[in-house]
Amino acid sequence: MKRSRIPFLTSQQQTPSFSPATFLQNMTDNQPPASPPATPLLYSSDSYTISTPSPSSSYASLATSASTKSLRPKLSKSTTIASENIQVMVRCRPPSDMEEQSHEQDCWLLIPEQGTVKLDESNGTTFEYDRVFKGTDNTEIYESGIQKLVRSTMEGYNGTVFAYGQTASGKTYTMTRTAEEPGVIPKAVADVFTYIEEEAIDREFLLQVSYMEIYNEKINDLLNTGRHSTGLSIRTTTHGQDYVENLSTMAVTTPEEVMNYIELGEGRRHTSETDFNKNSSRSHTIFQLIIESKPRMSSLASVRTSRLNLIDLAGSEKVATNTERRQEGSFINKSLLTLGKVITQLNEGAKHIPYRDSKLTRILSASLSGNDRVAVICTINPAWKSKDESTNTLRFAQGVKKVRINPKITQVAQNSRLQNYKEQIVELEIQMQRKTEQEAETKER
Ligand SMILES: Nc1ncnc2c1ncn2[C@@H]1O[C@H](COP(=O)(O)OP(=O)(O)OP(=O)(O)O)[C@@H](O)[C@H]1O
Ligand SMILES: [Mg+2]
Repeated sequence: MKRSRIPFLTSQQQTPSFSPATFLQNMTDNQPPASPPATPLLYSSDSYTISTPSPSSSYASLATSASTKSLRPKLSKSTTIASENIQVMVRCRPPSDMEEQSHEQDCWLLIPEQGTVKLDESNGTTFEYDRVFKGTDNTEIYESGIQKLVRSTMEGYNGTVFAYGQTASGKTYTMTRTAEEPGVIPKAVADVFTYIEEEAIDREFLLQVSYMEIYNEKINDLLNTGRHSTGLSIRTTTHGQDYVENLSTMAVTTPEEVMNYIELGEGRRHTSETDFNKNSSRSHTIFQLIIESKPRMSSLASVRTSRLNLIDLAGSEKVATNTERRQEGSFINKSLLTLGKVITQLNEGAKHIPYRDSKLTRILSASLSGNDRVAVICTINPAWKSKDESTNTLRFAQGVKKVRINPKITQVAQNSRLQNYKEQIVELEIQMQRKTEQEAETKER
C-alpha cells in the first residue's frame, strides 16, 4: 500500500488554490484533473501519515486497509438555535424521448417565482413549497436550495438532504454524478473543500466519508467488501444515539479521493433495468461526510463535529413483471410508506413515532427528530399517466414542509477522531524522542 504524507500547511505557505469550477468541469469532461488541486489542510502534523488512494491501488484493498470503524459518539454538548422548518423543493423533470414520442402530455404547471405546482387544469389544487424547479439544470437547484445547508454543516450543524419520488422521476439525476450534469453530491463535495480552503488559516479539519445502501431491508457497506460489510446492524449508544455498527469510515484529503469513493460505492450499489427505468436504483443510499474541526489556536476540548447525509432514495413503483424486481419493489414501497407514516405522526405530535419500523426511518430518525438541518427534493414525472403517484409525492412534500426542527451545533468533549489523531501524534513524538535519547545513550557508552 502506498502511503503518502499529508502536507503540513502553515498560514505563511502559498498553495495553489482549489477551484470547484475546474473540479466539476473535469468531472463533466470525465477526465482526471490536469493537475490535482491543493490538498487542503486536514491534519496539522507533518509527521503523521495516512493512506490515500493512488491510481494503482485496488479499491477493495484500499477500502479494507484504510478503513476505520465508525465512531460511537460520547459525551457531547450542543447549542440549539431557533426552530425552523424542513426546506422542501419540488422538481418536475422534462418528458423523456419515449414520453415525447407517445405524446404523453405534461400535466403539471410549475411557477418557480411563486414556488407553486398545480395540475394544468382549471380547478386543480395548488401546492406550495419553498422552491420549485423544472428543466435539466442541477446547478440552480443546488445553489438556491442546498448550498447554504452544506456550508452550515461546515460550521458544525448536522445536515441531511434527500431526494424522494416515484421511480424514474429524477432522484439519482438530481443527487449523483452524471458526466453531463454533476448533481448535489459532487457539488457539495466541491463546496466542502472550498470552505476548508477558505478557513484553513484559522481552523484545522478532519474529513471522513462513509457510504451505505439499504437493499431489501439489509444495510450494506459500499466502501468495504470484507467480512462485516453486509447485513450491518443498527445499535444505540447509552446516550440514545443510533449508529450503524461496523460501517467503514475513510479519512479523505482531496475532492478526488471523495469522488473515487463515491464512484466505488455507486459501482457496488444495487441497480437494475425495470419496466419503468433503464437504470433504476434498487436500494436507498446514504453517503455521509463526517466533519471535525477546531480553531488552530485552541484546545482539543473545542472540537466541533458534524455530519452531512446525502441520500438518494429508491423510488416507489407499481408492481413489476420480474419476480426479483417485484420483491425489491415491495421492500422499497414498505420503507417509503413507513417514512410517510413517520412524517404524518411527527406533524400530529404523536407520542410514539414508528422510526423502528424500517431501517430507512431508523437511520433517518436523528435527522427527522429535529437536530439536523434538512432539505428534501421531491421529484415528479411530467406525464398524465403518472398523475396519481406525482400527487402522492406532492402530498408527502406538503407533510414534510410542516415538520419543525431545532438544528444544533455539537461540540465533542472526547473520542473525536481529530482528538484521537492528536493524541496518537503526541504519543508518537514522545516515543521517537525516547528512541533518539536511547540511541544517543548507547552511542556514548
Ligand atoms: N431533470 C432532468 N433532466 C433531464 N433528464 C432527467 C432529469 N431527471 C431525470 N432525468 C432522466 O430520467 C431518467 C430517470 O431518472 P433517474 O434514474 O434519476 O430516476 P430515479 O428517480 O432515480 O428512479 P429510480 O427510483 O428508479 O432509481 C434518467 O434517464 C435521467 O437521465
Ligand atoms: Mg435512482
